[in-house]
Amino acid sequence: MMSRYFVLFVLFLYWGFLENGVDSLGVNWGTMAINRLPPKDVVQLLKDNGINKVKLFDADDSTMSALAGTDIEVMVAIPNDQLASMGSYDRAKHWVSRNVTRYNFKGGVNIKYVAVGNEPFLTSYNNSFVNTTFPALQNIQNALNEAGVGDSIKATVPLNADIYGSPTENPVPSAGTFRTDISGQMTQIVQFLSQNKAPFTINIYPFLSLYANEHFPVDYAFFDGVTNPITDNGIQYENVFDANFDTLVSALKALGYGDMTIIVGEVGWPTDGDKNANINYALRFYRGLLPKLAGNKGTPLRPGYIEVYLFGLIDEDAKSIAPGNFERHWGIFRYDGQPKFPMDLSGQQLDKYLVGAQNVQYLPKKWCMLRQDARDLSKLAENINFACTFSDCTALGYGSSCNGLDANGNASYAFNMYFQVQGQRDLSCNFQGLARVTDQNISQPNCNFPIQIVASSSSSSKLSQVVYLAFLTAFVFLSI
Ligand SMILES: *[C@@H]1O[C@H](CO)[C@@H](O)[C@H](O)[C@H]1NC(C)=O
Ligand SMILES: *[C@@H]1O[C@H](CO)[C@@H](O)[C@H](O)[C@H]1NC(C)=O
Ligand SMILES: *[C@@H]1O[C@H](CO)[C@@H](O)[C@H](O)[C@H]1NC(C)=O
Ligand SMILES: *[C@@H]1O[C@H](CO)[C@@H](O)[C@H](O)[C@H]1NC(C)=O
Ligand SMILES: *[C@@H]1O[C@H](CO)[C@@H](O)[C@H](O)[C@H]1NC(C)=O
Repeated sequence: MMSRYFVLFVLFLYWGFLENGVDSLGVNWGTMAINRLPPKDVVQLLKDNGINKVKLFDADDSTMSALAGTDIEVMVAIPNDQLASMGSYDRAKHWVSRNVTRYNFKGGVNIKYVAVGNEPFLTSYNNSFVNTTFPALQNIQNALNEAGVGDSIKATVPLNADIYGSPTENPVPSAGTFRTDISGQMTQIVQFLSQNKAPFTINIYPFLSLYANEHFPVDYAFFDGVTNPITDNGIQYENVFDANFDTLVSALKALGYGDMTIIVGEVGWPTDGDKNANINYALRFYRGLLPKLAGNKGTPLRPGYIEVYLFGLIDEDAKSIAPGNFERHWGIFRYDGQPKFPMDLSGQQLDKYLVGAQNVQYLPKKWCMLRQDARDLSKLAENINFACTFSDCTALGYGSSCNGLDANGNASYAFNMYFQVQGQRDLSCNFQGLARVTDQNISQPNCNFPIQIVASSSSSSKLSQVVYLAFLTAFVFLSI
């Protein structure tokens, strides 16, 4: 009798642990890829890996349809360029009715949050959204309340660490405040979130700390200890994640809202496109982060569970590289939904891979390469430049996986990327006679020459426009 209870008890504990581990984690599902996996396959990928929270960057119909009927909790979003129009309450009501309440039925979409903008106060946006964010937040939450869903669906504003002011004297977490140029807006936002019992959402990027400052202590970006922790009021900070989070806790406390719920909207590590963006560092980062989250360790000022969304789900090869080449390589999955490195979301550090996307449709095993017998190489540079303008060559840059290629390898890489983006059309592997198609895998050690996936039908109309534009431009370009 005793032992049966004991087994049940242990099972119960184990179940609780699994639930916690899996329950705590969400992912960001961005869709800025040249060829997207079909949304229903992405939803299957989430399910196969026990991921039950997802953060989106819009409220696209095809994505929402694929999520309908699942229990996955969803954060839908209003992009920054629509914030100004949400200053009209009627417009905000229309958005809510079309993109939230429309899905609010049994078998619909389990929407939990509306993200109002995406890091709208970044200094690089030159104050473009500084006056439109708060009115949009107010109107959206008020529209949710008026529609009768405000108790279960909360509006929030995902912000980035660059909202913190940095005291030059002693920039410890306990000295955290908001930037003076946005302090008025931040005070209004925080008060409003509190009134509506909505969470504060912060994106935390230890990688960017390292990227932005070559003197940043590398170990502090990870979770396996440092030789010189930062001491703050008797607390020892050993990683920048905790320090960043607690800076926010202090900034909220200074406004009188030290207990406000905080969600980490984005956190992750890119795997290519910079000397610090690689599989080894990503592995090290997640091997520290995931057990910490699963164990509900929290931070020194906020021990316990934190709701966290990893960034991101799948690589996005059409994202702007203004912030850096690494922007296109944040996925825990590659462009084709296959895992890049071992990862155990339950935080038990099991040495296993996530389940990859099933039944992925690839183009045929054909590559485009520089002709060995190409004579006139005078036009090579401009052809490479052209290929890379319409495809993703970020893996060729300094510190990236394909940076070691020789000049011919570079040319072949660029030509192949363009050929794949063009759906392997014969004409797209010519480059003024410099290129030819091959069925030999011309990948190099550590540098994969990928085969594209078949464009999913939901994005095909957009895609065909891109292809048509590229084709027109190619025509103009090559006839100069
Ligand atoms: C709903 O969201 C989609 C996708 O983000 C957007 O294109 C559309 O304009 C929104 N609908 C309304 C009525 O605002
Ligand atoms: C912000 O201003 C800088 C300098 O004036 C300019 O180079 C940049 O393009 C601007 N960015 C945006 C998003 O407007
Ligand atoms: C925002 O509003 C303030 C106060 O009305 C104004 O001074 C400022 O120019 C506005 N900023 C932008 C970018 O519109
Ligand atoms: C290959 O291309 C990359 C990126 O454009 C460049 O940094 C590198 O120097 C090139 N290598 C050779 C050998 O031309
Ligand atoms: C090509 O070769 C690389 C390296 O050996 C390998 O990783 C990749 O899967 C191969 N691609 C295809 C389409 O078989």
